[in-house]
Amino acid sequence: MTHDELRQEIARLKKEKKAVIMAHYYQREEIQEIADFIGDSLALAQQAAKTDAEVIVMCGVHFMGETAKILCPDRTVLVPDEAAGCSLADSCPAEDLKKFIDQHPGHTVISYVNTTAAVKTLTDIVVTSGNARKVIDSLPQDEKIIFGPDRNLGEYINASTGRNMVLWPGRCHVHDRFSLEAIAKMKEEHPGAKVLVHPECRRPLQLIADKVGSTAALLDYARQSEAQEFIVVTESGILFEMRKACPEKTFLAAPAEDAECQCNECEYMKLNTLQKVYEALRDGKPEIVVSEETARLARKPIERMLELSK
Ligand code: 13P
Ligand code: SF4
Repeated sequence: MTHDELRQEIARLKKEKKAVIMAHYYQREEIQEIADFIGDSLALAQQAAKTDAEVIVMCGVHFMGETAKILCPDRTVLVPDEAAGCSLADSCPAEDLKKFIDQHPGHTVISYVNTTAAVKTLTDIVVTSGNARKVIDSLPQDEKIIFGPDRNLGEYINASTGRNMVLWPGRCHVHDRFSLEAIAKMKEEHPGAKVLVHPECRRPLQLIADKVGSTAALLDYARQSEAQEFIVVTESGILFEMRKACPEKTFLAAPAEDAECQCNECEYMKLNTLQKVYEALRDGKPEIVVSEETARLARKPIERMLELSK
């Protein structure tokens, strides 16, 4: 089928199955174009929590589908490609985190949403890059905290709040490989450009940023700013929405250290295609399944996050 035919079939099936298509900003353009809702990981969780659709097609990575399923156990949650994982979630196996927690008694466990449901069952509060600061600021300054799995985000929060959270040594293979040298050179060539950095990037990049924030926060900054040029230091899918929101401005993708191209892509996010969205809707699979007990335990820290980020 051509893209036009796929789009028509997806629209037909969506109506028939009372489905909604949600997409993260890192999705391919063709997916962002057909999504009913596009957002960062916080907005996707908030949207899932309040949808009245019977089927949610979550175009992102596996943990985003799992979060939606945990929040909406009575809905069908489909993901276009089951293999769309996340290196950051993979960097924190639940059994290892459990041992780490046992070594740090008396600590509140805060986990980034980029984790498996099993990790969330060991967690007191889930956060995303969009609300981590707000959630952590709501806790007493002397509260002992374990933060995981993203070390770079943890370092950012420690530095900006004066806390000393114990950090799990996890990382995202995309954000951890941006080249400081190449970005500094881009800044020399474009002195008026604002540097927008996702907090999953390493500390030296956070330090040269004009804005550190979640994908939605970076998009918002670009919309509000009077600057005309931006160097975007996060997965390059976000450029589609930035260019759409601000067609008169210039957005430059930052390259990875070892990149052959001039951008940095998450291969997991790019696994989803129009064809796979069509097949998922047509066949009702791959479906996200979370056991009742895991969902019950994992729901608490996610709901706490949603409550604290109101
Ligand atoms: P956001 O929370 O900014 O959407 O980021 C999610 C993610 O996977 C970043 O790599
Ligand atoms: Fe995971 Fe990194 Fe891909 Fe985001 S960009 S989904 S953190 S691997």
